Amino acid sequence: MCRPDHYGIYYSINPWMKKILRNEGNQKIRREALGQWHNLKSVYEEEGFAVQPISQVSGCPDMVFVANAGLVCGNIFVSSNFRYAERQPEESHFRKCFQGQGFQVKTVEGKFEGHGDALFHKGTLVCMIGFRSSDRGVRQAAEHVGKTPVVLKLVDERFYHGDTCFCPLDPILFYPRAFDRPSRRKIERLGEAEALGEKDALAFVGNGTPLYRGTRQIYVGPMPSKNLRKKLENRGISIREVSLPAFKKSGGGARCLTLFL
Ligand code: ARG
Repeated sequence: MCRPDHYGIYYSINPWMKKILRNEGNQKIRREALGQWHNLKSVYEEEGFAVQPISQVSGCPDMVFVANAGLVCGNIFVSSNFRYAERQPEESHFRKCFQGQGFQVKTVEGKFEGHGDALFHKGTLVCMIGFRSSDRGVRQAAEHVGKTPVVLKLVDERFYHGDTCFCPLDPILFYPRAFDRPSRRKIERLGEAEALGEKDALAFVGNGTPLYRGTRQIYVGPMPSKNLRKKLENRGISIREVSLPAFKKSGGGARCLTLFL
């Protein structure tokens, strides 16, 4: 995780940021973000996960969204190749960090935004294209880790990264209208899946962090719908509700702030 010491909305590269740019101060956003980030970190630690920090570099406000650093699989780190110039300076900082930790660092030529667009579901690598990562990028990344990806196409720009609308719990939580029709069918073939309504999807329920601890499943994220809460609890999934509005302003949530090592 990356503490939001230099976080803010300094540019707009997704529809969530567009709304904010006009009317808010970054100092206030940063103050709120720090508190919310510490809450999220505490939840992970309470659930028994160790958090390894990476320092945020000034001038890289979106570096807090570490899920986008790259794809981690075993000892391999496939470094992201960001679509927008605004985020490209992050690449070398993340690469250096992973190199220093002894990972084998790989690169791709196509556009690729790490676990924002690449999620493991029971050993299958599910990749999303359409806004940030390209078909070429995700296939090159998958090849580096020896996987044949299931590639899904995103069609709603509010859900510009796959991890904003697809949470690989068991059952998968996903927002159907964020995907084209063939992709929805592919999701159904992946296993049991729970379709999110628009309200839950816009609250970024799809961006909750799925934690697996032995046979236990934990969902960490927003949970506005009592119905969905009941359904998941009946399936034995523990819910740790966290609210991350300061990060939502940038188009991110719990999963985006987290990279699994
Ligand atoms: N402002 C960031 C961007 O648009 C948010 C990234 C959210 N990260 C994620 N994994 N969905 O790139």
